[in-house]
Amino acid sequence: MYRTHTCGELRIGQAGQTVTLAGWVQTVRKFGSITFVDLRDRYGITQLLLNESLNAKLDAQPLGREFVLQATGKVNERSNKNLNIPTGEIELLVSDYKILNKSAVPPFTIQDDTDGGDDIRMKYRYLDLRRNAVKRNLELRYAVNRSARNYLHENSFMDIETPFLIKSTPEGARDFVVPSRMNEGQFYALPQSPQTFKQLLMVSGYDRYYQIVKCFRDEDLRADRQPEFTQIDCEMAFVEQEDILQMFEGLIKRIFKDVKNIDYTDVVKRITWEDAMWNYGNDKPDIRFGLEIGNLKFPQHAFLSKTSSLEDAGVLTGFPVFDDAETVLAIAIPGCSEYTRKQTDEITEWVKRPQIGMKGLVYIKCNKDGTLKSSVDKFYTEDKLKAIAAAAKAQPGDLILILAGAEERTRKATSDLRMEMATRLGLRKNDEFKLLWVLDFPLFEYAEEDNRWVARHHPFTSPKPDQIDVMINNNPLIEDAAKYLEHPYSNIKANAYDMVLNGNEIGGGSIRIFQRELQEKMFAALGMTEEEANHKFGFLLGAFEYGAPPHGGLAFGFDRLCAILGGSESIRDFIAFPKNNSGRDVMLDAPSSIDDKQLVELKIKLAL
Ligand code: AMO
Repeated sequence: MYRTHTCGELRIGQAGQTVTLAGWVQTVRKFGSITFVDLRDRYGITQLLLNESLNAKLDAQPLGREFVLQATGKVNERSNKNLNIPTGEIELLVSDYKILNKSAVPPFTIQDDTDGGDDIRMKYRYLDLRRNAVKRNLELRYAVNRSARNYLHENSFMDIETPFLIKSTPEGARDFVVPSRMNEGQFYALPQSPQTFKQLLMVSGYDRYYQIVKCFRDEDLRADRQPEFTQIDCEMAFVEQEDILQMFEGLIKRIFKDVKNIDYTDVVKRITWEDAMWNYGNDKPDIRFGLEIGNLKFPQHAFLSKTSSLEDAGVLTGFPVFDDAETVLAIAIPGCSEYTRKQTDEITEWVKRPQIGMKGLVYIKCNKDGTLKSSVDKFYTEDKLKAIAAAAKAQPGDLILILAGAEERTRKATSDLRMEMATRLGLRKNDEFKLLWVLDFPLFEYAEEDNRWVARHHPFTSPKPDQIDVMINNNPLIEDAAKYLEHPYSNIKANAYDMVLNGNEIGGGSIRIFQRELQEKMFAALGMTEEEANHKFGFLLGAFEYGAPPHGGLAFGFDRLCAILGGSESIRDFIAFPKNNSGRDVMLDAPSSIDDKQLVELKIKLAL
């Protein structure tokens, strides 16, 4: 037997017992004739005390960091207790030990505060995984996994595996493809998600399906995106949107309880896509804080049901930058009216960064005494400034920040600025969690380059029931590109929903189309010919002819959910073997070229 206990297990109550531990040498410290060794395993650290009787052995073969050691001895009460660790009241008085394996000097210290940079830790990921910080993240991931499985199992969901070698499933990204040796010149695609399979399972009668499953997408990477990532993928039959929202709020609340011991008793807020864009400039708003946007000026087409928060639109005229801009948006930042010139200059520089891309920033300081001071004083009377401040819902003591420019960019920049100011003011607390459902997304997006519609979520999403006729009865063709917003399709809303947690889209889904006719119409709307639709999705259209039940579902981004629960921005920290930002596994050095022999077998000739 290699060990009787783990390195995190022994307590004062076991003093006097003879035990055997096995683990890795974290540190070796010599005090005169005595040697202390911190022995680490997955469960903790125990101090070993090696007295002079072992010195000859130690001298013959000195212990080094990360050696694998087996040590036997008596549990002893420590004279110098360390109450910061659970085993800190005892030590092991070693009678004998054995080196099970030696270790080269590790390239970085394997401690909480490591001296290793990102790249080196990725290269030696198997060593980084020994560190507490990374281990805690994987433990959290496993806890989320268990909690989700328990909840879904208790609610009659069945875990059913679906294949990885499939035909392309369009989810908006590029496919990773795999050449087939047995089918010359043909390729499988790796699934971007199990979307069509889970729908087929509904047709087959497995009315509650789930899978914690890998998905593969060849897209540009960011902190919250990996080329292969994991979803908690779910589908239900005989449900409406409300059933899905209830079921999966329940899942997330259960995970909060099991993993973070949080009773999330608040009603999960719901907001329409339009309101989200309007109030926050973003379809995944962080609602831990307010800082809502004042819409001073914007093109009328974009949010048809909205009007400017300025009572008199003429108020803005007079300042050439605003006169020329398509959109002018403001945010009132509470309590910042006393910002210095240096501070406002700094925010101006921030919005001018290429990632934000604005030309400048206008500010109005709403002084506590009710007076106003702005960077555009010479263009506006005090009364006009007051009207702008009122439209931005500013209070005395606030600093109003105003951005102007083309609509999409300005909305995005204002949303980014909102997040940046919230960060600076400490309003984005890692231990506060606020869930939000975003509903009523547009069904279609307009793709300018091809002058056609694309599915905003995916092509299997149904329109709102009362808009099915609009879809069926209108020709999807956009005759005049300049007037695409007047096409009836631009106003169709989807039966789709996203779950947002602290400003991150952690999940999304929809009620599906389940009738062949409507699905065919959808494919046609996306510019597919009948042959193309049959070639790509004949199996699904066929299945819809054999009694497809009404159904819907969603998928959570498992890595993202873990990262947010763990208080991190980066999902990489929660994946055992992640890829870097260029999609490379630097430990394996993958992707890499393959042998000529393999290429010949696959009949592939590189065009490099
Ligand atoms: P969607 O594409 O919205 O929906 O994906 C669901 C959730 O998966 C997460 N996610 C990612 N996480 C890490 N890296 C990525 N590259 C990545 N891409 C997406 C997000 C997202 O909310 N089949 C549909 C679901 C459905 O309709 O049921 C789908 O895949 O958190």
